[in-house]
Amino acid sequence: MIQAIGLTKDYGARRAIENLTFEARQGEVVGFLGPNGAGKTTTMRILTGYMPPTYGTAKVAGFDILEESIEVRRRVGYLPETVPLYPDMTVFEYLKFMADLRHAPNAEDMVDDALALVGMEDRADGYISNLSKGMRQRIGLAQALLHKPEVLILDEPTIGLDPAQVVEVRSIIREIGKERTILLSTHILSEAQQLCDRVLIINKGRIVAEDTPENLQARLVGAERVILRVRGEADDLAPVIAKIKGVRDVDIQPDGTLAFQFAPNVDVRPEVARAAVKAGYDLLELRPVGLSLEEIFLQLTQETAKEK
Ligand SMILES: Nc1ncnc2c1ncn2[C@@H]1O[C@H](COP(=O)(O)OP(=O)(O)O)[C@@H](O)[C@H]1O
Ligand SMILES: [Mg+2]
Repeated sequence: MIQAIGLTKDYGARRAIENLTFEARQGEVVGFLGPNGAGKTTTMRILTGYMPPTYGTAKVAGFDILEESIEVRRRVGYLPETVPLYPDMTVFEYLKFMADLRHAPNAEDMVDDALALVGMEDRADGYISNLSKGMRQRIGLAQALLHKPEVLILDEPTIGLDPAQVVEVRSIIREIGKERTILLSTHILSEAQQLCDRVLIINKGRIVAEDTPENLQARLVGAERVILRVRGEADDLAPVIAKIKGVRDVDIQPDGTLAFQFAPNVDVRPEVARAAVKAGYDLLELRPVGLSLEEIFLQLTQETAKEK
């Protein structure tokens, strides 16, 4: 369980995150989705107790990150953006070293269990310097899982991996996410959709949307893009359509069709059809096209940018 309340972080005069309030419950995989510089890493560092917030606080696994940071660290596994690996160590030596740092009485068992979880038992004696990027990422995951933490915080767990490795790491995350709380960050929309039960979209340090991947898309159904095809050129029709209340983002597509969106909850299509006919056009087609997650994301982040 993670509960963040009004987390704010200033780096000098620069505000990196502002008033972030959110929750991740047990058994839930929550995705932090946002572009570079959105504040994902900053938030994760705060939640893992590596850095205090400027304002606000959070509870992780039931403990306050400021007052009880030792308890928090005992219960959190953290995969940082760059995992500090020591190339001269074998996989086993490295993980044993990390387990010893946690004063584990049964360090070797912990290492074996973690290696099994990430499917790397057969690599225990290999040197870290010889491992591929994907293998290193798995060691990073193993390191985060050593003490069987109830909360896992994974910062861009699949960044820099090739497609086959991405598939492997995602399936490991899904597996370990079943009974734990996972907060993971990504800037890849399809990844958030595949891995997460809930997605928090973060941009410029603020949460701009929070929902299930399915609902996020459904919420924007009203903002679906509609293609309007008329006989002949639609150029002169564009300003007519743009004037209709609720219509936005009218543009002429390369194929000559006119595309527009409309605000949620007002279906403007009948009015658009009437307007086209009234303007003397033969209406051939009026067809909704689903927004891609990329477009949804752009739209949500642009909306916040406009508010500022
Ligand atoms: N140590 C730091 N000192 C100053 N500014 C920082 C520091 N770390 C991050 N920032 C700034 O804070 C913002 C959020 O960064 P970060 O949390 O790394 O975002 P993300 O992980 O989403 O890419 C960015 O504008 C970044 O430049
Ligand atoms: Mg980051």
